[in-house]
Amino acid sequence: MRNKNQFLRMKQDQEKIAMITGYDFPSAKMAEEAKADMILVGDSLGMTVLGYDSTIPVTIEDMVHHGKAVARGAGDTFKVIDMPFMSYHISIEEALKNGRRLYQETGAQALKLEGSGEVAEIMSKLVHAGIPVVGHIGLTPQSVNVLGGYKVQGKDREAAQRLLDEALEIEAAGAMAIVLECIPHQLAEVITKRISIPTIGIGAGAECDGQVLVYHDILRYGVERLPKFVKPYVDSNHLLGEAVQTYVNEVKSKAFPEEQHTFTMDVSVLPEE
Ligand code: KIV
Ligand code: NA
Repeated sequence: MRNKNQFLRMKQDQEKIAMITGYDFPSAKMAEEAKADMILVGDSLGMTVLGYDSTIPVTIEDMVHHGKAVARGAGDTFKVIDMPFMSYHISIEEALKNGRRLYQETGAQALKLEGSGEVAEIMSKLVHAGIPVVGHIGLTPQSVNVLGGYKVQGKDREAAQRLLDEALEIEAAGAMAIVLECIPHQLAEVITKRISIPTIGIGAGAECDGQVLVYHDILRYGVERLPKFVKPYVDSNHLLGEAVQTYVNEVKSKAFPEEQHTFTMDVSVLPEE
């Protein structure tokens, strides 16, 4: 399993960090077999596997449940797990309590928190307690209703400066990496050069130290509309949808099951009809 220092070295050596989300046993296993450097147990699971329309309804219990399944599928891969909506905003005590629970019960190697400012203070407390943390700035989906929608961040002078300041603040808080979501690639490049910890981009261009995408998005699995920054590598909706349809049709038409799917026995021992 990789560790924090190896990720730092990868940045220095300009070796890209490949991260993908994982939510359950099979997705985690697939990411590990593909030798992804990191798996993110993202609170995007609220959308991808639980069917909510944002990450806001996701609870600590949801994260623990899925985080444990991911750990069973990817025991040898570095796992980052999201602290969900409002689990780190009520008080420092509550944030530490929730952080401890996610970290200890799932066996993830780091926690990810969205935002800066007061959140950076929480991050430094978590790091102080021995828990590695990853930052997340730019488009922060837990704040979608404050941001006014899912849109590109940091495009004007003030917003760009603010994002750089946030990145520096998160680095100073002791974070081991920062996710940059949905910002122009030129700004991501400036941030990447100005901080010593790795940047992991999603919709933040090729200059980031690593990339992260959502498992269901790259597989086009259960999602219809994909954001511009996603590259789908297969069309699972079509591929898997067709397989499920054929199964249903074959049951109806009695084409399934066939002899090779069937058990048999000596009929003389059968009870009378
Ligand atoms: O929850 C998630 O999937 C994320 C990534 C998109 C960065 O936070
Ligand atoms: Na997330």
